[in-house]
Amino acid sequence: MKYSRVLGTGSHLPSRLMTNADLEAIVETTADWIQERTGIEQRYLVADGETCCDLAEAAARRALDAAGIQASDLDLILVATTTPDQVFPSTACLLQQRLDVHGCPAFDLQAVCTGFVYAMSVADKFIRTGAAKYALVVGSETISRILDWTDRTTCVLFGDGAGAVVLGAADEPGIISTHLHADGAYKDLLQVPGGHGNGHPEAAFMEMKGNEVFRIAVTTLGRIVDETLDANGLDKSDIDWLIPHQANIRIIQATARKLDIPMERVVVTVGEHGNTSSASIPLAFDQAVRDGRIRRGEMLLMEAFGGGFTWGSVLIRY
Ligand code: COA
Repeated sequence: MKYSRVLGTGSHLPSRLMTNADLEAIVETTADWIQERTGIEQRYLVADGETCCDLAEAAARRALDAAGIQASDLDLILVATTTPDQVFPSTACLLQQRLDVHGCPAFDLQAVCTGFVYAMSVADKFIRTGAAKYALVVGSETISRILDWTDRTTCVLFGDGAGAVVLGAADEPGIISTHLHADGAYKDLLQVPGGHGNGHPEAAFMEMKGNEVFRIAVTTLGRIVDETLDANGLDKSDIDWLIPHQANIRIIQATARKLDIPMERVVVTVGEHGNTSSASIPLAFDQAVRDGRIRRGEMLLMEAFGGGFTWGSVLIRY
């Protein structure tokens, strides 16, 4: 068995709903400005005491149920996150303990909003090489905790949540190809400047030059679409569903135009969830699987762009 395929999906949102109107009381903004510039209408945030691992566990259990396997069957646990519960152990190890799994490799992967795409690529390689038969891939974020709630240019954009996928070994793809990139030259455009490693753990809040990020994201995502189609000798019309990272509806629309795909064939959750970083693609994926839009046998293109910069895609025959 030399391929991996998606056996099941799951997701979870925290219960605290924050609308654009709620934000008007926090920073100098308007509900209309946020909606018009980003497509975001609301987002869900964690409550005090609720953790990244709590969200990951709920999403993971749903994905395991959907896949019809036991947690004890897993050979690999990967959590893509920018907001781990602790510096260490990794959130993947915390999740492993919650799931009562013992011994299989478990680690976090940090590629910010591209984290889930990176994690899918790594899990696919474990399965293709025979190192794993069943892999749990989670994107989970409590991004609200690294926002500066006095900065209207960032705090209105993000939300919390988790999504998960169980991959299993198969004779046919499954994951057809993955494409990963990074360029650290852009580190200053989107960052949390502080960390324990540089001696400034207090500077732990996000900074973004939104305009520049927007421009580069649109052109880069256009390129990753071409790269993915070219690598597989596919035409735009072969893609049944685009499942983009959900940062801004205008970025999503630009990628859809590049693909000549109608918006009805694009899974869009940014209005309800905001940008949930590494959780956004698996949240959108699970929503469209569960409501019956995405069906077995269809061709799915996932793409993401995020801090680093990092960017990438996953092409899947579902
Ligand atoms: N409410 C009201 N006004 C706001 C605002 C807010 N929340 N945030 C910024 N503004 C103001 C700015 O101060 C600026 O005012 P000025 O013209 O008086 O200086 C004006 O709105 C326009 O700001 P600008 O940054 O040019 O707006 P924009 O159309 O580029 O939209 C973003 C801003 C952040 C929505 C947009 O740049 C974006 O989505 N960028 C990409 C973000 C992203 O995807 N990041 C994550 C990648 S994973």
